[in-house]
Amino acid sequence: MPTSRRPDPARPSVDVLELGGVRLAEIVADPRVGTPSYVYDLDGMVADAKALHASFEGAPHLVSYAMKANSAGPVVRALAEAGCGADVVSGAELVLAMRCGIAPDAIVYSGVAKTDEELDLAIAGGPEGILAIQAESVEEIARVDARARTLGRTARISLRLNPALDADSLDTHRHINTGHDDAKFGIPLASVPTAFAAASASRNLTLVGLTAHVGSQVTATDGYLASARVVFRVAREARGRFPLRFVDTGGGFGIDYGAGCPVTPADFIRATRALQKEHGLDDLVLGCEPGRSLVGAHGVLLAKVIQRKVGDADRRWLMIDAGMNDLMRPALYQARHRVVPLEAAAGESLMWKVVGPVCESSDDFGPHELPAAAFGHVAILDAGAYGYSMASRYNGRALPAEVFLRGGQIVAVKERRPITDWVEDQLSAR
Ligand SMILES: Cc1ncc(COP(=O)(O)O)c(C=O)c1O
Repeated sequence: MPTSRRPDPARPSVDVLELGGVRLAEIVADPRVGTPSYVYDLDGMVADAKALHASFEGAPHLVSYAMKANSAGPVVRALAEAGCGADVVSGAELVLAMRCGIAPDAIVYSGVAKTDEELDLAIAGGPEGILAIQAESVEEIARVDARARTLGRTARISLRLNPALDADSLDTHRHINTGHDDAKFGIPLASVPTAFAAASASRNLTLVGLTAHVGSQVTATDGYLASARVVFRVAREARGRFPLRFVDTGGGFGIDYGAGCPVTPADFIRATRALQKEHGLDDLVLGCEPGRSLVGAHGVLLAKVIQRKVGDADRRWLMIDAGMNDLMRPALYQARHRVVPLEAAAGESLMWKVVGPVCESSDDFGPHELPAAAFGHVAILDAGAYGYSMASRYNGRALPAEVFLRGGQIVAVKERRPITDWVEDQLSAR
């Protein structure tokens, strides 16, 4: 989380914003960095992972980091060193997790439409394959069985349940709400007996877990616990029939994007553990799949102010060199990120509509109170999750640079690719 030192009144233009103990203005001035650039505080991510582990109070657990939130190598390696496993959603993420040192036994694989090639990677990864392919439909169980048979191996699976929550029961955007009947995710509860039958009929499948994931940026525990209750109820039905090792209640723990967040990840874990105990399942490993809550607050997106535009009726736009291609969340989910100037400027503030250079009206980071006087750069806060991992090269734009901080210094930089890469790519079809 960036911190701001009080501006020195004797030097009204002093740079004040820091992340991980490093001044952001110093980072932006590094010739390898420039803008737009993501900056991540790996120490902050590791501290949050350790705090989450501690919230299990020594009970058997697996924190499977949802790599889709931020799949940068240094981030995944740091979280692996902090004891996290991984929740992956593609073959590429699976390969990356293993290359970053995560044991196959600590990897679960979610996703509604895994290809045969991806299933093969999961079944063959490690001596027993990965911990669990999270089957999201009865049809997928049959496909995993067929691939395991072809490979002459046994695949460990878990069933991702669709807990059929009311679509309005989670206080989150409809695009990141996954636990209702109309969502493509998870096995409908009415199909659980068929799923059990398919798993027990196969000699190539071992059902080791039950899971659910109801959505992202969840800011109250009720919906999450309603889903956990479903997982635990089905686990009680399954345990006499299958060698269950874990129950997993998913990720989704919300973070504070500036308007406050009344719950912490530890609140979700504490309440879930109590429920697990009530169901007599506390001998099973309790899994969770946090993405955003481990990385979101520890990243910022730095951008340069390209120009200002003042229209009639006091309309003001601040045009920056980061756009919706770099940080898609505002365009995709109407998400709001705080935008702050990197350099402290004296004098009055005005409302500015902060927008990017992409030719789309939705390339808009919203209205922000910012200095009236000119300043050079902004930081878009809490951009460590679903930022770079969703970035694209739309409009012929280069992917942003990425900077990794540890121990109060830059430890790695992934530089921005030259725009000629994009041009060559467009010309490469023969
Ligand atoms: C199956 C699954 N698990 C975990 C997550 C991580 O969610 P979050 O980043 O909100 O913790 C997601 C993301 O939506 C997901 O689809």
